[in-house]
Amino acid sequence: MIRLEIYRYDPEAGGEPCRQSFEVPVFKPGMKLLDALNYIKWKLDGTLTFRRSCGEGVCGSDGMNINGVNGLACITDVAGLKQPIRVSPLPGMPVIRDLVVDTTHFFEQYRSIKPWLQAVSPVPEHERLQSVEERAQLDGMYECILCGCCTTSCPSWWWNGDRFLGPAVLLQADRWIRDSRDEKTGERLDKLEDAFKLYRCHQIMNCMEACPKGLNPTGAINHIKRTLLARKS
Ligand code: SF4
Ligand code: SF4
Ligand code: FES
Repeated sequence: MIRLEIYRYDPEAGGEPCRQSFEVPVFKPGMKLLDALNYIKWKLDGTLTFRRSCGEGVCGSDGMNINGVNGLACITDVAGLKQPIRVSPLPGMPVIRDLVVDTTHFFEQYRSIKPWLQAVSPVPEHERLQSVEERAQLDGMYECILCGCCTTSCPSWWWNGDRFLGPAVLLQADRWIRDSRDEKTGERLDKLEDAFKLYRCHQIMNCMEACPKGLNPTGAINHIKRTLLARKS
């Protein structure tokens, strides 16, 4: 058996947030935290609320705080976790219910960087080509699943999240800055040259440690800063 202490909050029922303990059997080898949460929901307490979809680290919907560290429940082995396993919503976002947070602001920030290809040259007959080297520039960026684990572990975003874009959105911004097919790099950089949007990153590096896909948002932020400096000189 494993023991979990799960954050519970139901605004419709009134009352304060609390923690609830559950005991769950380890019912298969390599059992993940998401298996334990599903067991609770399906067999012990159907009111437990959390997001999940793919179950294999692709959709980014089950980001949560696990024993103080942000991660994806579906790829976190219960075997390696200290007990009782404390499971909480991602920090720094309003809680809607139990482990479900309100990601509206996070995705508004994402939309603000125009995360799509912007090209003004005529549409080619076939696709817009890239060399192997140009395509390789996107490695370490396209894998981001927008789970928010990095952004919600960033103290600068907790304090200035209304204006600081946070590591996930800045990594995505860098993804489009680096894309050889995009023709709005100058405009993208103009929009980021702002005391808050970009420069509130103080290199605390929590984001890098939190990323369940092993990506490096700090490196992306530094690349944007270097690119801004280079165009000045
Ligand atoms: S390196 Fe920057 S973005 Fe990453 S956690 Fe630290 S302050 Fe936030
Ligand atoms: S950089 Fe990593 S932690 Fe941040 S949103 Fe993307 S996948 Fe999630
Ligand atoms: S359920 Fe999709 S990433 Fe975990």
